[in-house]
Amino acid sequence: MKIFIDTAEIEEIRQAASWGIIDGVTTNPSLIKAAVDRRRGEISMEDYVREIVKASPGPVSLEVIGRTAEEMTVQGRLLHEKFSPSGEVAVKIPINPSMNGEEEIEFEGLKAIRQLSGEGIRVNATLIMTPEQALLAAKAGAAYASPFAGRIDDYIRSGLGMRRGADFQKGDYFDHDLLGRARDSKIKEAMKDLSSIREIYQSETVNMLMAQGQDNGIRSGVDLIARILRIYRAYGFRTEVIAASIRNPRQVREVAELGVHIATLPFEVIRGMIRHYKTAEGMRRFMEDIVPQYQALFKER
Ligand code: G3P
Repeated sequence: MKIFIDTAEIEEIRQAASWGIIDGVTTNPSLIKAAVDRRRGEISMEDYVREIVKASPGPVSLEVIGRTAEEMTVQGRLLHEKFSPSGEVAVKIPINPSMNGEEEIEFEGLKAIRQLSGEGIRVNATLIMTPEQALLAAKAGAAYASPFAGRIDDYIRSGLGMRRGADFQKGDYFDHDLLGRARDSKIKEAMKDLSSIREIYQSETVNMLMAQGQDNGIRSGVDLIARILRIYRAYGFRTEVIAASIRNPRQVREVAELGVHIATLPFEVIRGMIRHYKTAEGMRRFMEDIVPQYQALFKER
């Protein structure tokens, strides 16, 4: 599995690169805004992005801001021309740029993906929330597809009336297994009073419970990624899946177990991956047990 770092902070990119564990970088306008704001005008946006591209050991995803295929294609070419001399650039195109259901632009992302990919520019199809969207991105020729795992977990929890910041925190692990068991037991209870399969099939309560704790059959962000990988493998698509919107180390483990091509991780998630209580305890014990004779082994002659 390749690891990208999901940040626009150059220091974070440099540090993670010095640990030898990152293969690329993903950014978005929000991450770049936060990083540039912190520098309060000390550096131009263009120079800053060039620095990011130079610091990265692999492709850097940069997002367009247009919403029509033409705008996105022109911007994608510009990003490529401006920054690929300093490194490798992938152009991030939203799978569907419509914000309020404007039907006329819903397929503009796909058109831009097709055009830029045809010109040999690597495209990262972003904001993917369904396997169906991922299938379309691959058909249009995207080099990468980025499903947003954490946001799907948020969405499922919000469907259950849970609020981020109040009922759960952004980095909390989403236990879809527990949720599934809770739902199954409720469904079993609701079925008790129903005698025929037809009654069960038609029961409003059963249908309501079935729909809870999932998004149109997707049980979690990790489940979304599993299904996309299954589809890509079934047809031999060469599009690589970037597990995005990853919020905690356990999610990283789960997507790694799926054999996802790439996971893009915030710096703090990477930091969390190195820690374990027993590792620190083990270190303390080893350090306590160092006898002078052993210490002498490390004296330079
Ligand atoms: O990789 C996409 C990422 O930047 C969004 O993450 O945690 O804001 O959903 P998040």
